[in-house]
Amino acid sequence: MQIGIQSGYVLLSTALAIPNDGKILSIDYGLGNYQLYFPIIEKAGMAHKIGYNRSPISLVTEDEKYHGAFDFIYVDAHKTICSASHTTLIDLVRIGGVIVYDKIFLSDTLGTLRIVSDEDASGTRYYGDPVLLFNEIVASDPRVEICQVPVGIGVTLCLRLR
Ligand SMILES: C[S@@+](CC[C@H](N)C(=O)[O-])C[C@H]1O[C@@H](n2cnc3c(N)ncnc32)[C@H](O)[C@@H]1O
Repeated sequence: MQIGIQSGYVLLSTALAIPNDGKILSIDYGLGNYQLYFPIIEKAGMAHKIGYNRSPISLVTEDEKYHGAFDFIYVDAHKTICSASHTTLIDLVRIGGVIVYDKIFLSDTLGTLRIVSDEDASGTRYYGDPVLLFNEIVASDPRVEICQVPVGIGVTLCLRLR
């Protein structure tokens, strides 16, 4: 499953990387650039791997048919969603599966990208506070083993243990 599609760039990259019979449920409550990326996904021969759901993630996590249904979930939505959704997303990934949260070191004062730090108090704490809350939630969740990878603007890997 992939949450936050926007340009379709990560969606296409993931579709290209999985086996031919692999499936991705893509979730985004906005249409994003669907008209731009859908023809590219078709041209790349990846359309058969992808399903589209235009709901907010909260509606998807409530649906019991998705519980334990996914090997891998990639999350690139607003960081308030990451902190609010982690406890339900973990039910959707199977034991031994992985959730990847992208852009997890990001602090953003609406235009200025920087790494979250304790000195981040000035300006709009648009991303900083949600990221710090998210870190606390995943670090204290006994169901997951986590690893923060300093690539790009930060990725947190969560392996579901139980
Ligand atoms: C940073 S963009 C994703 C970029 C994407 N990874 C790419 O390759 O272009 C974040 C996306 O998350 C979507 N989004 C944010 N909160 C959401 C929510 N609660 N439910 C569903 N989609 C959400 C937004 O509509 C937006 O398209």
